[in-house]
Amino acid sequence: MLPKVPIPTLTQTMAEYLRVLQPIVTPQQLERSRSVIKQFTAPNGPGATLQRHLLDKREAEDNWAYYYWLNDMYMDNPLPLPINSNPGMVLPPRKFTTVNDIARFAARLIDNLMLHKEMLDSGGLVQERATSREKGQPLCMAQYYRLLGSCRRPGEIRDSQYLPQQRSDEHMIICCRNQMYCVPVKAGDRGRLTEDEIASQVLCALNDAPCLRYDPPRVGILTTGTRPQWAKDRQLLLLEPQNVRNIELVEQALALICFDESIPLTFNARGFNGSPAGAHYCAGRDESNMAHEMIHGGGSKYNTGNRWFDKTMQLIICNDGSWGLCYEHSPSEGIAVVQLLEGIVKKIDEMPSREENGSQNYLPPPERLEWSICPEIEQRISEASRDADRNIEDLDFYVYRYRSYGKNFIKACQVSPDVFIQLALQLAYFKLYGHLVSTYESASTRRFMLGRVDCIRSASMEALEWAKAMCQGEGANVTLESDKEDDYSCEGNDIKKVTFSIYSRDHLRELFRCAAARQTEVMVQNILGHGIDIHLLGLREACREKEGNMHELFTDESYKIANCFLLSTSQVACSTNSFMGYGPVTPHGYGASYNPHPNEIIFCISAFFSSDKTSASRFARSLQDSLDAMRDLLS
Ligand code: COA
Repeated sequence: MLPKVPIPTLTQTMAEYLRVLQPIVTPQQLERSRSVIKQFTAPNGPGATLQRHLLDKREAEDNWAYYYWLNDMYMDNPLPLPINSNPGMVLPPRKFTTVNDIARFAARLIDNLMLHKEMLDSGGLVQERATSREKGQPLCMAQYYRLLGSCRRPGEIRDSQYLPQQRSDEHMIICCRNQMYCVPVKAGDRGRLTEDEIASQVLCALNDAPCLRYDPPRVGILTTGTRPQWAKDRQLLLLEPQNVRNIELVEQALALICFDESIPLTFNARGFNGSPAGAHYCAGRDESNMAHEMIHGGGSKYNTGNRWFDKTMQLIICNDGSWGLCYEHSPSEGIAVVQLLEGIVKKIDEMPSREENGSQNYLPPPERLEWSICPEIEQRISEASRDADRNIEDLDFYVYRYRSYGKNFIKACQVSPDVFIQLALQLAYFKLYGHLVSTYESASTRRFMLGRVDCIRSASMEALEWAKAMCQGEGANVTLESDKEDDYSCEGNDIKKVTFSIYSRDHLRELFRCAAARQTEVMVQNILGHGIDIHLLGLREACREKEGNMHELFTDESYKIANCFLLSTSQVACSTNSFMGYGPVTPHGYGASYNPHPNEIIFCISAFFSSDKTSASRFARSLQDSLDAMRDLLS
């Protein structure tokens, strides 16, 4: 049995909290927070009682923080799922010559998902262990059991989760041209269908959808709405028994397989002066373009209606061979999803290619889901389409491969690759804006029972001192609205800014070592269960429950600044040539996921075009300058 998530002492967390505020708030705000904390922790303040409440909760529950965190992070967040919550993953493209190739690939994916499910059901999942920092500690495996057959459900106040049940029959939902088909993959009386049978079922759907004369209602687009709005729309749909059954089938399906026609090559390529972003990859598409397809589907004119964003696993297969996943984040972190899919891809790659054997399909064709649509829902579908299109057009997304070095070089410098990349992100931000901002990095707490993540706050005083010193001599470089039209893409742009610092290399190296030591300390604190964010969240929720009102600790300016993550980052390591990305979490913020390989690092940078402060390609350019400067400093 794994240990329970610890609860740090009040003194520990409050001291750390003041320390993380220092680089991101004004001296006045810091002073105010200091006195608020003093009042909170004083003998007559609420701190000790609330801490006692959490300690009792820890005794009573497997993971005292689980639902506080789940609700705060996901279930109570009213924002639409695409872009704001669901990550998109791009996997190495396939080569399809005919529609049979597409059906065969889909069948192999489904077959392997089924094998995985059977392995889970029989208790055969191999225990994972930490590979560094107290190496060998077992990790919580609960996330793996929530991936297949689960679904989020919208609520007007709070969402909920439909979690997988053990069943004797199983099915998948296939989406093609906004139609949905229910494909049984395991029957109670005969077990799992064969790969050939699944392929022929998929083929039936792929042949049926384009032949239909009518334009189907894009019901799936309703799942792109704000959560309270979609909750209302769903209630309206549920008034019809036919829709009740359809929604049940979708929510209980093991996964969705969405067959897309690729979005245009120039999709949302604004800000790059027409030059495509990222490396060319598949059928003339660049990686940013593929990431757009996986994150949101390209809008109502393209594939956004061909989705059900509440579904945990939506595998997306495009006719040009690119493919990937859009996943609903609440049941699991990306790592479990990546492990599952990469494992399946490796197995498929080892399988011999197969000619169609022309075998007859003796199974009835898969059932097409027919919806009963009232005029009000019809109206809502067009409103939801308009809103989704607006949000999608606003996503500025740039996949950037830094090719000069990867984690081999960083390890040779005796630095943790994750720490190094976090500092590069801090420097990149500082170069653009001249200050640091509240930064989120997800830290896995799977060493503990039902552990999910805590937050590594990478903006430290040590990072600030180092970034300032690195930029001495550089002019102010703050993003202006007019800059946004410029081409800052990193590919094909050889103009290099000459940077210099008035400090000696030895001094800069020393500052870097201090920043890296601090970042390493915070990282280790978090993964060993002594992060401050989960603890502060627990105290805040305990305060709400026990006191009925919020202490100023959770309402003052500093708290707001600390929780507005203008830089939201996470490492999503992949062993194949794949990557995962997501949108920013605030209107003027950046999202930055990264995937360090031995000799390169893949970044997915996101921002919103509507912000006059941010630009994904400009950030990528600054990141390139930062990584180059760090190599020059340390080599
Ligand atoms: N010198 C040389 N090598 C070092 C080093 C140093 N000072 N410090 C670490 N390394 C090595 C490690 O031994 C490890 O080696 P390996 O590649 O042989 O395993 C490698 O560098 C990577 O270690 P590091 O970069 O320190 O980080 P990590 O892999 O332990 O990851 C976190 C750190 C925080 C990203 C990780 O613990 C975590 O929490 N991951 C989950 C994030 C997440 O949830 N993402 C999904 C969000 S949806």
